[in-house]
Order: sequence, then C-alpha cells, then structure tokens
Amino acid sequence: MTSTAPDLLATSAQTWRDRSADPPVVPDELRPPTDGGVRARNRALWQRHDLRRQRAEDVYLASRNPVRGWPVSGNRAVLAFFGDLVRSRRRSFVLLVVLNALAAGSALVVPRLLGELVNRVQSQGTGVTGLDSLALTVVGVVVLQALFTFAAQRTSTYFGQDLLASAREYVVGTILRLPVGRVESASTGDLVTRVTRDVGTMARSVQWGVPRLLISLLTVVLSVVAMLLNSLVLALPALLVFALCTPAVRTYLRRAPKAYITEGATYSRINTTLTETVEGARTVEALGLSAGRVRAGEDDIEVSSQAERYSMTLRNVLFAALNGAFQVPQVVTLVVGAYGYSRGWVDLGQITAAMLYVVALGEPLDAVIGEVDRLQVGAASTSRLLGIAEVPPDREPGDRLPDGAELVAADLRFAYREGHDVLHGVDLRLGTGERLAVVGPSGSGKSTLGRLLAGINRPRTGSARVGGVDLVDLPLEVLRTEVALVTQEHHVFIGTVRDNIVLAREDSSDDAVRDALRAVGSLAWVERLPDGLDTMIGSGRFALTPAQAQQVALARLIIADPHTLVLDEATSLIDPRTARTLEGSMNNLLTGRTVVAIAHRLHTAHDADRIAVVMDGRIVELGSHDELIALDGEYADLWRAWTS
Ligand SMILES: Nc1ncnc2c1ncn2[C@@H]1O[C@H](COP(=O)(O)OP(=O)(O)O)[C@@H](O)[C@H]1O
Ligand SMILES: [Mg+2]
Repeated sequence: MTSTAPDLLATSAQTWRDRSADPPVVPDELRPPTDGGVRARNRALWQRHDLRRQRAEDVYLASRNPVRGWPVSGNRAVLAFFGDLVRSRRRSFVLLVVLNALAAGSALVVPRLLGELVNRVQSQGTGVTGLDSLALTVVGVVVLQALFTFAAQRTSTYFGQDLLASAREYVVGTILRLPVGRVESASTGDLVTRVTRDVGTMARSVQWGVPRLLISLLTVVLSVVAMLLNSLVLALPALLVFALCTPAVRTYLRRAPKAYITEGATYSRINTTLTETVEGARTVEALGLSAGRVRAGEDDIEVSSQAERYSMTLRNVLFAALNGAFQVPQVVTLVVGAYGYSRGWVDLGQITAAMLYVVALGEPLDAVIGEVDRLQVGAASTSRLLGIAEVPPDREPGDRLPDGAELVAADLRFAYREGHDVLHGVDLRLGTGERLAVVGPSGSGKSTLGRLLAGINRPRTGSARVGGVDLVDLPLEVLRTEVALVTQEHHVFIGTVRDNIVLAREDSSDDAVRDALRAVGSLAWVERLPDGLDTMIGSGRFALTPAQAQQVALARLIIADPHTLVLDEATSLIDPRTARTLEGSMNNLLTGRTVVAIAHRLHTAHDADRIAVVMDGRIVELGSHDELIALDGEYADLWRAWTS
C-alpha cells in the first residue's frame, strides 16, 4: 500500500459524518431579532455589523497567505498594477486630463457670466446695454464646452478600452504560466470565479470607473477653484462640509476592500461547491448525498449574503451621510450670502454664481462617491486576480538547450503532499529509440513517474534530464518538442481543425498539418468535413467522435515532433473497436521515437525492449520480458496471473 493510505483512512470518516448536528454556518447573533423595541433592534443592527466586520477581516487575513488555495494580493500591488497601466500610456492619459479639464473649465465659466448678467441688470435697471454680447459669449462658451466634452468622452473611451485590453492580456498571461501542479491541487471553482466574475468586475471598473472618476474629480476640484475665485466667503460653507465628511470617507475606504474581497471569496465558495456537486453528480445520486449537497449550497449562500449585508451597510452609511451633507452647503451658502450682501461683502452676481456652483457640484460629487465605490469593487477583484500572479512559478526556464536526446532520471523523489513521498528514489536511463514498458499495481506511482519524465512536475529531489538539461529548466516551447505526455484526456479546443493541430508549433504549414493528419490516418475524414481544415470544432461546434478527437490529438503530437513520448494508459478508456482504428495511428506516431508506455495490458509489456516494474514508488525489477520471467519475481507473478 502507499504511504498516504493510513492517514487518508484516518480522516475518511469525515466523509460520512452527520452534519445535521453541526453548528449553523451563520451564528444566531447574525440574525435580526424578531422582538424588542426600536432602540434594541438598532443596537442589535450595529452589533451584527461589527460581527460581520470581524468575519470579513478574518477572511481577508486568511486569504492573504492560504496554505492550499489561491492567495489575494495586497492594496499596494493593486495600486502598482493600475499605476503601471496608466504610466505605460502616459500620452493618452495627459490628453484625457487636459480635454476633461477644458470641458469642466468651460462649464465653470458659465455661472460667472450669468452672475455678471445679474449684476448688470441690477445696476443699470431696464436701460441695460451690452446684454447681447454677453448672451452671445454664454452661447459661445456652451458650444465650446460641448465640443470639449465630446473630445474628452472619446479619449476616455479609447483610454478605457486600451487599459482593459492590457489588463485582460495580463490576466491571460498570468494564468498560462501557473504551475500545472498548483492548478490541479487548488480549487477550480475559485480559479474559475476569479477569471470570470472578477475579470468582468475589474474590466468594468478599469474601462468606466477610472476615466469617470478622473473626470468627476477634475470637475469637483475645478469647481472648488472657481468658487474660491468667485468669493472666498461664499466658498467656505461648502469647504467646511467637505472637511467634515472626510472621516466617514476614510473609514469606508479602510473597510471596503476587505468587505469586497470577502464577498468575492464567498462567490468562489458557491461556485466551488456547485462545481463539485455537478462533477460528482453520479456519486451524489448513487450514495444518496443530495440532501447534504443542497445543505452545503444553502450554507454557502447564507455566508455570502452575510458578506453582502456587511458591504451594503458600509455603502448605506457612507451614501446616507454624504447625501445629507451635500444638501447643507446649498442652504448655508444662501444664508451666508444674504448676510454678506447686507454687510456689503458680496454682490448679487457672486451669490448667483456661488449658488449655481454649489448646486452643480452635487452631480460630480455623487459621481465621485459612486465611482469610488465601484472602484473598490474593482480593486477587490483586481487583488483576487493579482493574487493568482503571486503563486510562484515552478520553473524559471534557463537558456541551456539539450545536447542529445537521451533521457536520464536519477534519484527521483516526489510528494504531492509534503512529507508523503510517492516516489522513493527512481533511477532510469532510456536508450534512444527504446521502448520501455512500466507496469505495477494501481497507486504504485507509475503516473507520477510518467509526469516527472515528461517534465510536468519538478521532482522533490533528484533530476530528470534530457541531453544533460533538467526538463523543468527548459522553456515550455522547447520542452514539448523533446518529451510529450499522452494520457486518456484529449482536449479538443474551440477552433478550427488546423488551430487544434498547430498548437505546439504555430508556424506549421498546411502541408505539414496534412502530413500529420495522413500519418494518423485522418486526412480522409478531415477533408470530408464541411470546411476541411477550417471546420470549427470543440465544445458546441462540429462534434468529433472520441476516436477522431484522439486522432486530432495524435496529429498535434506529430507536429510537436518530440523524440520521446510518455504514454500513460493512453488507450485504456477506448472501446476495443476504436482502439483497433487508433492502433495504426498510434504506431505511426511512435515510429522512430523513444517510448515510455505505462501499460495496463501486459502484452504491451511483452513487446517492449525493457520492462520496469514499479511497486510502492520504487523500480523493483528492470529487464526484458525473458529476463524478468527467468528472474521469477513480481513480473513473473503478474504475467502468470494475466495469462492464466
Ligand atoms: N494529485 C494527487 N494528489 C495527491 N496524491 C496523489 C495525486 N495523484 C496521485 N497521488 C497519490 O500518489 C500515489 C501514486 O499515484 P499514481 O502515480 O497515480 O499511481 P499509478 O499511476 O501507479 O496508479 C498514490 O498513492 C496516489 O494516491
Ligand atoms: Mg496511473
């Protein structure tokens, strides 16, 4: 048995534990009371809010450095990310700011002109002169403002789209370089949530949030400047109110990121449970586990709704405080204006302009707050996305290229979980063009050995080298032209037949693709497809039979042209009739290459040059069929069992 078995067994009872007696995922203190007066309820509301904040902080802390899952990056990384994006397109950013400033600035001239109009009418009575030219100026400024606004909007849209494109490319690049082992062991639900929902949220805030926030901030700042220029006294009430609002805004800004990151984590959790239930649907049905799965889903939703309530309360408090606060300056400015006018500090024109400014300020201020909130959501998503990038790569490709095609493994040890080696020092030297069969009981480490020999995982100790260079130190595009792993999983990507085949060498000519298809015996059916090589295949497109899908995968390998292939029970799932069709394709692929075949049928072993018997993470016998039969050890036993 394997070394991990005892401790798997020790925890296996967990699977069957009756969870109905577990404490609820959401404690009772988080549920609103059903009785009590208004004050008691109000107090309970704030207690719930505090408890939720505590939970959010715990989730945030735990997600910064998780043991297994995907981490979440810190605020500084998010700022640096956006900073880099903006810095790398400095020119359009400057243009964006200038055009928006011009648009906002020209809008601010209008109240001053109107104030001037009031003053003239007031001082000169009905016999007023020069009104026509003033009115014309107003019209001129308004037209100019419209033009600036148009140009500014246009630049903002381009800027946003461009930013978005880079951000997406970055995410795709990050995901592609994730260590395969890590992708396999961490939660898919979380990864999928991050690359779907979080990419979407980040995209929206990058595309709209950043430009809109800039525009509204500019408008606010310029308005304040214009108010100060108009009259210091009349600007004071508004400034004072803003100053009083800052603590509320700061509290919000300190708490919101954690709140939104917690929300994101709960969405990931929902998706993880859901994916697991769907993928294990048959098991769930067979073992009557559906009630438990439904309960798990409901629990996730409850936890998520608690996270949403927390961020909603944060928003409500902020919005309510600020909306109230923004009404105050309008009244106070008018009162101060009336008093100042009676004292002769300000004239009617200044009061008119100040009132127009204060009223006009409402809209950009609301926009600033709204966008800041949306940006918080976007920033939380971005920290979840950047968190993926914090997973260290498992390989830094060096620049050494293999000298020769000989594959040598020395003292390979490997653990999926720390402290539980599944390979205990495997040595192997493959001759060029050799066929090696690997046999052994299930769970003995054959697939693991195959993965190390194909450079998928890095051994814990020891090395797997081709031509003297560690496989995991080769750039991926070199690695796949040296050694390839072939398993039962053959993914057909959405794309044309050609796209699916040239994956490994994108510059392959159509002739090379046809040669590859001919070699695996598929050229005839491909040419009969509606659009030949250009036929769209993959999920939701033209459906291939399993055999055809496998042939496409084999053609892909012929194009990649590795000198060594590791076959891990590559045909064991295929029904015998299909297997016969594929045998020819497979043989053509194998011709002239070194092959490590992990075999489930012993006749494969019989025909191999050498056979390695793997037991409990070690090669216990190595030799030709005849030698091992003569040795009368494990292989001889297996052979007798298989042939009898
Ligand atoms: N992804 C994994 N995570 C943890 N343990 C694994 C994983 N894959 C395989 N193992 C364990 O490693 C040991 C060897 O597995 P494997 O190489 O697949 O054996 P074989 O291919 O000979 O059946 C087994 O004990 C198995 O449970
Ligand atoms: Mg296996």
